[in-house]
Amino acid sequence: MITLYSNGLTSVWHILGVGAIGMRWARKLKLAGEPVTLILRDEAKLREFVSAGSGIRYLSHVGEEFIPFPATSLNDPALRIENLLLCTKSYSLAAAYEAVVQKVVAGANLVLLCNGYGVQQRLGADASAFRVWAASTTSGANSAAPFHLTLAGDGRTELGPLNNLAKESVHPLLNLPRHTKSADIEATLWRKVAVNACINPITALYELKNGEVLNHPNAYERMESVAAEIEELAIALDKPLFETSLLKVAEDVCRTTAENLSSMLQDRQNRRASEIEHITGALLELASETNLTLPHNRQLLHEIRAIEAETLSPSDIGGK
Ligand SMILES: NC(=O)c1ccc[n+]([C@@H]2O[C@H](COP(=O)([O-])OP(=O)(O)OC[C@H]3O[C@@H](n4cnc5c(N)ncnc54)[C@H](OP(=O)(O)O)[C@@H]3O)[C@@H](O)[C@H]2O)c1
Repeated sequence: MITLYSNGLTSVWHILGVGAIGMRWARKLKLAGEPVTLILRDEAKLREFVSAGSGIRYLSHVGEEFIPFPATSLNDPALRIENLLLCTKSYSLAAAYEAVVQKVVAGANLVLLCNGYGVQQRLGADASAFRVWAASTTSGANSAAPFHLTLAGDGRTELGPLNNLAKESVHPLLNLPRHTKSADIEATLWRKVAVNACINPITALYELKNGEVLNHPNAYERMESVAAEIEELAIALDKPLFETSLLKVAEDVCRTTAENLSSMLQDRQNRRASEIEHITGALLELASETNLTLPHNRQLLHEIRAIEAETLSPSDIGGK
C-alpha cells in the first residue's frame, strides 16, 4: 500500500545495490507492506534478473521461497525516486550515488547502509538537497549467487540523520521491526568501525571464523594491539568509544558471532575487494590529524592490500 506522508513523500522505496544486504532490506520492507522497486546497475543486470524470474530466492532452514519484486535499471528514463536505500559496499557508494542522483527528487530520503567510516558523512554533506540518513545494523545477510539471499543473524538497526535536512525531518524506516533512532549516529558509526577494524582484517588475514580469533595466540595478540591503538586514537580525537574497553567489546562480538565468517574473510575467499580502505584505512586517515601512527593497524592494512594485489585485478581493488 502506498502511504502519502506529511512531507509530501510517498512510502515507495527504491533499492540500489541488490546484493546481500539490499535483498535483506527488500524482503523486510515487503513484509512490512511497503512497495519496493529494485534498481539494477544496467540493462544486462536487469535481463539477468528477469531471466531469474524477476525476484529473489530466499533460502532459510524451512526451505526456499521465491519473492517477486518489480525492478528497473539506472537507464530507465521514467525512474523517479522519493526514498532510496543505498546498499553498495563503501567503496562503490560515491559512484552509485553519482549514477542515480539525477533520478532522485529534491527532499528525498537517502538511507546509507554501508559499513566503513567517512564515506557516509561525505555523502551527507555533498547531497544537501536530500534527507541523508545512515543506518548501522547488526543484522547480517549472505548471497551465494546473484539474487539468492540467506540471513545471518537478526540484529538491531540504528538510524540517524547525516545532514541538516534530515535532522529537521521524521526518521524513515522506523516502522520496520528492530529499527530504532540512534541518539548519535556519528558515534554509532565510529564505534562500529572501531569494532570492525579489530575483527575483520585479522579474521581475513588468518582465515579464521570470528570465534577462532580468541583461541589463536598470534591473531588474538594482534587484535589486542590493534584495539589498544584505536583506543589511543579515540582519546586523541575526543571521540569516546565504549564504557568498557574496545578489546572487551571486540571479544564479546567474536564470542556471540563465533561461527560467522567476517565480510572481509568472505571477500578474501570469494576473491572480491574488501572494505579495508574504509575501515582500517579510514582510521589511519583520521590518525594523520594526530601524532599517532597506528603501526599495528597500518601493518594489517598493508598485509590485506598485498593479498588483494595478488588475487584481484587492479580495477577490482576497492577504495583506492
Ligand atoms: N552482508 C552483511 O551481512 C552486512 C551487514 C551489515 C552491513 N553490511 C554492509 O552493507 C554493505 C553492502 O554489503 P553486501 O554484503 O550487501 O555487499 P554485496 O553483496 O557485494 O552487495 C553490493 C551490491 O551493490 C551493487 N552495486 C555496486 N555498485 C553499484 C552501482 N554503481 N550501481 C548499482 N549497483 C551497484 C553490487 O552489484 P554488482 O554485483 O553488479 O557489482 C552488489 O549487488 C557493505 O558496506 C557492508 O559492509 C553488510
